[in-house]
Amino acid sequence: MKLERQTDARWWQRGVIYQIYPRSFHDMNGDGVGDLAGVIHRLPYLAELGVDAIWLSPVFRSPMADFGYDISDYKTIDPLFGTLEDCDRLVEAAHAQGLKVILDLVPNHTSDQHPWFTESRAGRANPKRDWYIWRDGAPDGGAPNNWLSDFGGSAWQYDPASDQYYYHAFLASQPDLNWRNPEVRAAIYDVMRFWLARGIDGFRVDVIWHLIKDDQFRDNPVNPAFGAGSPPHNAVIPLYTADRPEVHEVIAEMRSVIDEFAGRLLIGEIYLPIEKLVAYYGRDLSGVHLPFNFALLSAPWEAGSLAKLIADYEAALPTGGWPNWVLGNHDRPRIAGRIGPRQARLGAMLLLTLRGTPTIYYGDEIGLQQVAIPLERLHDPVATSVPDHALGRDGCRTPMQWDGSAYAGFSAVEPWLPLSDDWRERNAAEQKHDQRSIYWLYRRLIELRRSNQVLLQGSYRTILARGDLLLFIREYSGHRLLVALNLGNDPASLNFEEGTLRGRLVLSSSLDREDEDVDGRLDLRDAEGVIISLSQDAEV
Ligand code: GLC
Repeated sequence: MKLERQTDARWWQRGVIYQIYPRSFHDMNGDGVGDLAGVIHRLPYLAELGVDAIWLSPVFRSPMADFGYDISDYKTIDPLFGTLEDCDRLVEAAHAQGLKVILDLVPNHTSDQHPWFTESRAGRANPKRDWYIWRDGAPDGGAPNNWLSDFGGSAWQYDPASDQYYYHAFLASQPDLNWRNPEVRAAIYDVMRFWLARGIDGFRVDVIWHLIKDDQFRDNPVNPAFGAGSPPHNAVIPLYTADRPEVHEVIAEMRSVIDEFAGRLLIGEIYLPIEKLVAYYGRDLSGVHLPFNFALLSAPWEAGSLAKLIADYEAALPTGGWPNWVLGNHDRPRIAGRIGPRQARLGAMLLLTLRGTPTIYYGDEIGLQQVAIPLERLHDPVATSVPDHALGRDGCRTPMQWDGSAYAGFSAVEPWLPLSDDWRERNAAEQKHDQRSIYWLYRRLIELRRSNQVLLQGSYRTILARGDLLLFIREYSGHRLLVALNLGNDPASLNFEEGTLRGRLVLSSSLDREDEDVDGRLDLRDAEGVIISLSQDAEV
């Protein structure tokens, strides 16, 4: 019975998701910015890499104040990226190559250029006034309360014409929708159905834990841990502005919309501690299928910390809740920048051998670096509006490096963001020729995972987390794989008691040790990870 249910695992439980930041993937029309035609052009690369689904950051009509996370028309593709027909072509071409397509849904806020907001702003009596969050000022005329924008400053913007303030969790040009209003909900569900009916396979929902705010507009508590180096909005704890209990009711509604269409996926972007994160599976799993698990994005690269966060996550999952892991995204520094290019290979091995759906950020498969962007080329509003430019996100959004031709084969003209300096050597074409490259490591790991029930469905158990070494076992139906990662820069050896470690090395992160026999002793080079298929009689 159990077996039957598990072999029935849904595509997103078996699959690997690949995030594309469309501005930076491939530019076909020669304006220095990536587009949908560029994504279509590169689909064969993704099919060959072996991923199962692509998630596109927003491609809808937008003034681009926050690079598409400020939408002015949910049902139109921005001309920068192409047309609705291009999007249909993309979905069709992706499906033909066995790839699913996930779009970004940004329901928490619109652009201030969205007609809904233009109407809402037109006056207190406008029928759409209540579609956004309007409040009178405090008795002293200042902002209604102490809520802060994630992008700096007060979250309230004064509107002189109506003498009221509107709330924006991000830029002032990204007013928050009022999700307590049923008309707003219906309007966004209509947007969802519009895209689902066009054949897309699911949504990644932007800042889903922000949707509902406190109905009493209470001040957020001051954060006692706030200190130098913290982003300015961390001065208060977002107790009343995010993760409100009522949000789960809204998400269950979104989930029902998804479930009107067979086989579609709902992912939530949620930055919360693990015990709060798992609540987003919803009561009786009525919430998102995958609440994005970002624990690895900021985890210290150290065996004890990693083992603890994996164990905490595994323990916190609700019955039937499917795990997932994310190693990089368009908001956080690149993994290769954070832990270095050699350890990034172990990052790949960890991501693709843990239990649950992995999400790969474009370019991480070639070890794309975090890029230092000169001040005059910064674009991200977080970098340009907050005094500390270091918080900016441009450095992880640089163009994909395809080959050694001009502009790395990304575009015929100077790209919107600079390339990483190493693009002549570090690019997809070069790495395809080098059987030991990180690209081939990703490919091998994905291939192994795809065909291996232990990796797809097996249980997880840490067996050692000490110093630089992290060892864990995945087990399914009597078959076991041992994953051993050396997170340090010195070689390491482990002697096991007789009879406990016996098997065959299936894959090494250095891609040159396949089929070695392992018996009693495990030798790992510096910054090396290995996957060992254990013999039936090994008693690890
Ligand atoms: C999400 C997006 C981020 C964006 C923010 C506001 O966190 O990932 O890029 O700036 O929402 O929409």
